[in-house]
This record gives sequence, C-alpha cells and structure tokens, in this order.
Amino acid sequence: MPALTWTDDLSVGIEVIDGQHKRIVDYINQLHEAHVTGEKELLNRVLEELIDYTQSHFGFEETVMEEAGYAFLKAHRRVHELFIRKIGQFHDRHRSGEDVTVELSNILVSWLVNHIKREDRDYAGVVQKHLGAGASEPPRQGGWLSGALRRFFRG
Ligand SMILES: [Fe+2]
Repeated sequence: MPALTWTDDLSVGIEVIDGQHKRIVDYINQLHEAHVTGEKELLNRVLEELIDYTQSHFGFEETVMEEAGYAFLKAHRRVHELFIRKIGQFHDRHRSGEDVTVELSNILVSWLVNHIKREDRDYAGVVQKHLGAGASEPPRQGGWLSGALRRFFRG
C-alpha cells in the first residue's frame, strides 16, 4: 500500500489547485495511517472526508476550467464523473463492512498522479493565462476565484 509524497513534478503551476491536490495527498496518507494503526473510527472519518473533499475539488476545478474557457471541459468533467462513481463503489463496499483501504489507496495514488500529470496539466496553460499573476498567489478576496472556493468548500 503506497504512501504518496508531494513532489514538484505534480504541480500544475496554479497555487490554489496545487493546494487542493496536496490536501488530497494528505488524505491518502491519512488513509494509509488509519489502515496501519487499524483505527476503524479514523478510517471511517478519513474515507468520508476524502470522498467529500475530492468531490468539492472536482467541482471547483470544473468551475475554474469553465471560467477560463477551456475547450475540453466536457471531457474532463466526464473523467471526474467516472472517477467519483468508482470511488462511490468503494464507499458502498466499505459501508457494507468490506476492507477496501488497500485497493482504494492503490487506485487513488495511481489515478491522482496520472490525472494531475495528464488531464490537469492540459488545462493549466489556459487557466494560468486567465488568472495572470494570480495563478501563483492565493485567491484575492472578492474575486470570482474566492467566490468559487466558498461555494465548493464552504470556507
Ligand atoms: Fe481534474
């Protein structure tokens, strides 16, 4: 069961998106820890949070792509949908008492790394251009980006 370390080759060059990807990496590592220590409560919580967070992240990413006029938004959204469906199946199996942690963690690690390096990197140029200097900064208060953050993460 692999743990995942954030390395710069996972960066898409957009600070707010990198931050969210890092958070997902954290969740994957928490999942790993909960599995190792065998803490059921923790495992439950991490799994729920990971799914919830990933869903929010996808929604946020789609808004950013749409806002930037990315041409392949529809295809990217479809990739997200299929992945959410896949995670949902793991969630169901987990709820019915099956230990899916190792399998789920393996899929998360390989999927996330591939997805970031291919699909996410594909929209990066268009989004960076749209954000201008803002791509390398935290979102400005009152801007559309911080609005989208609030909408998806209630934060
Ligand atoms: Fe994505």
